[in-house]
Amino acid sequence: KTVYVLNGPNLNLLGMREPAIYGSATLDDVKKLCEAACQRHGLALVFRQTNHEGELVDWVHEAGRLQAKGELAAVIMNAGAYTHTSVAILDAIKGTAVPLVELHISNVHARESFRHHSYLSAAARAVMCGFGVAGYGLAIDAVAEW
Ligand code: DQA
Repeated sequence: KTVYVLNGPNLNLLGMREPAIYGSATLDDVKKLCEAACQRHGLALVFRQTNHEGELVDWVHEAGRLQAKGELAAVIMNAGAYTHTSVAILDAIKGTAVPLVELHISNVHARESFRHHSYLSAAARAVMCGFGVAGYGLAIDAVAEW
């Protein structure tokens, strides 16, 4: 089965972006960590980043087609700021019924109040936040058992 790890806006800046909050690992480091975790579990990995909301929607639809064939393990998504704004991504997840892990590097609940609400949580099977980039590996370990 395949794990989709989808990253949204500004995650391409990981490593240089507010390092006190997000740490010093780059997105490439995160990709390597995800590759290692998937290898451990015999899972295939699709790892992507975009700054565009509609592209995340398209990628959820793509994962949905795998889901329909029984070939999807899960979508692990760090939707970045779209977490707090995007009904479109919520509808894509509901419309495809992909098993979703909503992931945040930081503990969004300990930050500004506008980060406390997520449109995606209502459609998520699990939510991971505050574990730093290690959360990606932990999420892959978990979905390997789904
Ligand atoms: C984030 C948290 C969001 O509030 C923020 O907009 C991000 C990153 C995280 O990984 O902690 O871009 O999803």
